[in-house]
Amino acid sequence: MSGKVIAIDGPAASGKSTTARRVAKRLGFLHVNSGLFYRAITRVALREGLIGESELRCRVPELEIEPVIGEGFVDVRVEGEAAGTGLQDREVSGHVSTVSAYGFVRDRVLTLLRAAAELADVVCDGRDIGSVVFPGASLKIFLVADVRERARRRLLDYQTDPSDEAISAEAERLGARDRADSTRERAPLMRAPDAVEIDTTNLTPDAVVRHILDLAAERGLGVRAG
Ligand code: DC
Repeated sequence: MSGKVIAIDGPAASGKSTTARRVAKRLGFLHVNSGLFYRAITRVALREGLIGESELRCRVPELEIEPVIGEGFVDVRVEGEAAGTGLQDREVSGHVSTVSAYGFVRDRVLTLLRAAAELADVVCDGRDIGSVVFPGASLKIFLVADVRERARRRLLDYQTDPSDEAISAEAERLGARDRADSTRERAPLMRAPDAVEIDTTNLTPDAVVRHILDLAAERGLGVRAG
C-alpha cells in the first residue's frame, strides 16, 4: 500500500524541487525528485556511450536500479551508485529530455516512483506525477513561471551572472526543453485537471511553500503554514 502522496508538476526551473523539498520537510514526508531518476539513467547512458534508442532499449531493463531512503529524500541507486542531489550538470541536462522520452525508460521510472511511495509519505515532483504516476494523489500542484524568470533562477543555480544576454540564451534552452517535454508522445508535461495551478513568477519561495501547506492542511495532510 502506497503512503500519502503530494504531486508537484511543472516545467523546468519552475521551482518544483526546492518547493517539494521544503514542503516535505515541513510535513515530515520524504521528497522524491523524479527528474533525479531520469538523470541517473541518463548519466549511465552517457558514460556507456548509449544514447540511441535501440541500444538503450536493451540496456535499461537490465540496469540494477532501486529507490533508497536518504536524508529527507528518496535517492535512486543505479548499478550500486547513489545519485545523491547532483546530476544538474549541462551534459546530463542536455540529454535527459531525449532519454526520458523513451517509453521503456518511463515504464521503469514509473515503477520505481511507485515503489518509492511505498517507503514513506512523499512529496513527488516532476512532469507527469499528478497525471500519470500518482493519479490518486491527495494533493496535486502545477507550478508555472515566466520563462525569463525561470532562466534567471537557473543561472543563479549554476552560479552564473544573470545578465540579459545570459538570461536570453538560458530561456531559449529552457523553452526548447519545455517544448520537448510537452510534445512527446508518452506522458507529456501536463496539468492534471484536478491540479491547483500556482504562478510563482512574483512569489517568494516562502510564499509558495505556505500556500501549498495551507492546501495540504485543508485536505487533512498536515499543519497549517501559520
Ligand atoms: O526536473 P528535472 O529538470 O530534473 O527533469 C529532468 C528531465 O526529466 C526533464 O527534461 C524531463 C524529464 N522528466 C520527465 O520527463 N518526467 C518527470 N516526471 C520528471 C522529469
